Amino acid sequence: MQPEFWHQCWQQQRIGFHQTELHPLLPVLTQQLRLVAPVHTFVPLCGKSLDMLWWRQFGPVVGAELSELACQQFFQEQGWLAQREAHGSHQVFSAEQIRLWQGDFFALQAEQPGQIELIYDRAALIALPQSMRLAYTQQLKLLCPTASLLLLTLEYPQAEMQGPPFAVTDAEVRDLFGFASEIALLAVRDLTGRPFAQRQFSVSQLKERAYLIRW
Ligand SMILES: C[S@@+](CC[C@H](N)C(=O)[O-])C[C@H]1O[C@@H](n2cnc3c(N)ncnc32)[C@H](O)[C@@H]1O
Repeated sequence: MQPEFWHQCWQQQRIGFHQTELHPLLPVLTQQLRLVAPVHTFVPLCGKSLDMLWWRQFGPVVGAELSELACQQFFQEQGWLAQREAHGSHQVFSAEQIRLWQGDFFALQAEQPGQIELIYDRAALIALPQSMRLAYTQQLKLLCPTASLLLLTLEYPQAEMQGPPFAVTDAEVRDLFGFASEIALLAVRDLTGRPFAQRQFSVSQLKERAYLIRW
């Protein structure tokens, strides 16, 4: 997907991927992670996800998002006045222990997210076409060399629908993260016939998987 695609989604508020409530698996997944606070969490391709508020209870949260509108809306909708600073090709919006790096995720440099113990990917990997996914995983490893990744994927028969979101199979996850020391499948949710955030897809099967990946 080209940046223009995502900018248009935000300008036209075609953001059916946005969840108006916390992701329902978060409490049970968090228990499985046995976190010891403080945990610094990185949320790549974060949009204005309310899940960032969940992670904030464990420590500071850093997001990366292309759209300035998304960043502004996130803070406005919480009623928070964000500070804004320029950092090279990015702007950083920050308030209340949440810092959003607005700009291209792929242009972030190694030290920029700071110390990170946990990466949370919901609708980030699956937002990218196959040709960009390996670069995405390599960039995660570069930005957060010592973090664990909580990854949510979606799988459906790809021929039945055009992404995004794209189907990412279990085999592809294992291939993309071939450098990881551990890939644990934590949960599988059957979403067939059920909505994905604000969207309803006409596909014959829809599965969400949650993984914990350590490298
Ligand atoms: C499917 S949405 C998911 C947003 C969020 N993770 C959520 O769960 O609501 C994908 C997001 O990635 C952002 N995005 C796409 N390409 C990006 C890039 N190269 N750098 C930073 N953000 C990007 C889009 O603007 C969009 O908000």
